Amino acid sequence: MPKPTIQVCFSPDLYHLYDDPEQIVVVIDILRATSAICTAIEHGAESVIPVASLEEAQEYKNLGYLVGAERGGKVVEGFDFGNSPYTYMNDRIKGKNLVLTTTNGTRAIETSKNSHTVVIGSFLNIDALIDWLLNQTRNIVLLCSGWKGKFNLEDSLFAGNVVQRLIQVDAFKRTDDAALCTKYLYEMAHNDPFTFLRKSSHGQRLAKLNLKEDIRYCLQVNKTSKIPVLQDGRLVALDVKETLMS
Ligand code: MLT
Repeated sequence: MPKPTIQVCFSPDLYHLYDDPEQIVVVIDILRATSAICTAIEHGAESVIPVASLEEAQEYKNLGYLVGAERGGKVVEGFDFGNSPYTYMNDRIKGKNLVLTTTNGTRAIETSKNSHTVVIGSFLNIDALIDWLLNQTRNIVLLCSGWKGKFNLEDSLFAGNVVQRLIQVDAFKRTDDAALCTKYLYEMAHNDPFTFLRKSSHGQRLAKLNLKEDIRYCLQVNKTSKIPVLQDGRLVALDVKETLMS
């Protein structure tokens, strides 16, 4: 049997070049959407409903849902919280179906929602994610959320870590230069990702908003072993046993 492939897509705007309903997509938005989603699920949220627009988010708010909304790094006025992982570490969210809309991350989820499986990746759940991916036989696309359609460093860095770990056990075939590029990037930056990201555009944007602690938190590894997966429009904790060898 041929080895499954692993590819990296640098932006939701390029996803049409990778689209395949049979593949697994790992959505990545390290600063901060996918880190916030992993944190919310780890801290007891029943699910996170990702929505692309503020209008949809407002409709859920009108129905009484707790809604997180972020644009340009800031909390959108009138919503319950933004995208800081720290705001998802409290009892208020336990057992709740939350709604989230962000500048790029929820857009990436929306863009890839018709693939076979969409899972959420971050440094916070990286070991669990890698263990699960190693047991899959489908092709994988690592979808970086980027920034408004453009490349970003932090998502690519994480993609490179995943590529490096998956190809080193020889289970996957790397097929594109994007995957190779992210692997080189990760090899260059892995000793001190915080310093490496200091000059990145979103790193600087968040620093200006006094959110450096968020960056530090999002670069920690293995704070959770849960992998959020998209099921019927909601991100819930993946039942790993049920999906082994899917
Ligand atoms: C996004 O979706 O663009 C990001 O997560 C933005 C952020 O949290 O600052």
